[in-house]
Amino acid sequence: MASTHTIAVLSQKGGTGKTTAVRTLTDAFRRSGVRTLAVDLDPQGNLSDYFDLPPDVEPTIADVLSGRASAAEAIHEDLIGANLSLAEAELMLGSKMGREQTLRRALAGILGEYEVILIDCPPSLGLLTVNALVAADHALVTAEAQYFALQGVEQAMEVIELARDSLNPELSLLGVLLNLADMRTVHSREALASLKERFGEQVFDTAIRPSIAYAESAERAVSILDHRPDLGADYLTLADEVIARLGI
Ligand SMILES: Nc1ncnc2c1ncn2[C@@H]1O[C@H](COP(=O)(O)OP(=O)(O)OP(=O)(O)O)[C@@H](O)[C@H]1O
Ligand SMILES: [Mg+2]
Repeated sequence: MASTHTIAVLSQKGGTGKTTAVRTLTDAFRRSGVRTLAVDLDPQGNLSDYFDLPPDVEPTIADVLSGRASAAEAIHEDLIGANLSLAEAELMLGSKMGREQTLRRALAGILGEYEVILIDCPPSLGLLTVNALVAADHALVTAEAQYFALQGVEQAMEVIELARDSLNPELSLLGVLLNLADMRTVHSREALASLKERFGEQVFDTAIRPSIAYAESAERAVSILDHRPDLGADYLTLADEVIARLGI
């Protein structure tokens, strides 16, 4: 049986393109015939909306983390959805033994069903993100091409190292993705240069260009690969890089 690559997509900051990356990489992988499960681990439920999952669909990841449903039961069209009930589930989780391993244990039941599992983390490095890092074997850090990018990535790295040292020695960094990168500006070029200086080859060669079309794509719940294939090309190139790094 082929092994499953589980990838947690995280950032210290909000709005760095985590959800867009999970949605679009999922689309790109599926187009290449890679069986991919997307997991929404953010109470905002942005990923679920982007996939046009009806808001009343149950069970969700909150039910899975609370032990009310299995991961298999919560899969709807290869997505495990989330909504605001996840905020409550996170609070409940905080007082449980083994709270950091809850997602890992839940996903164990469906490993082997998918070649890739992509987890969309919330914009904080709290218990949900730690659960993703303990469940994953790879971390993908997103950064916005701006002055404080490096600092945010450093903080995400610290949490990755913490998860690796204490709970998940298998965890490795898959790469750092620079988003909203307009390479015509000095600003973006400097952000990329500082990331490359610090993280070298771990920074993906592909950076994602900025466009208002991404917000439109999310609003219409249509993949950027369909909404604007010219822009989607960035994510197709990124998906090839990710697949190469995973060795699929
Ligand atoms: N390349 C891009 N160019 C312009 N806008 C983008 C791009 N990628 C994503 N966006 C938009 O930026 C906003 C934030 O993106 P997204 O929701 O993917 O980030 P996030 O890191 O998941 O945010 P959060 O931390 O709130 O979960 C969204 O409105 C999205 O449509
Ligand atoms: Mg998000």
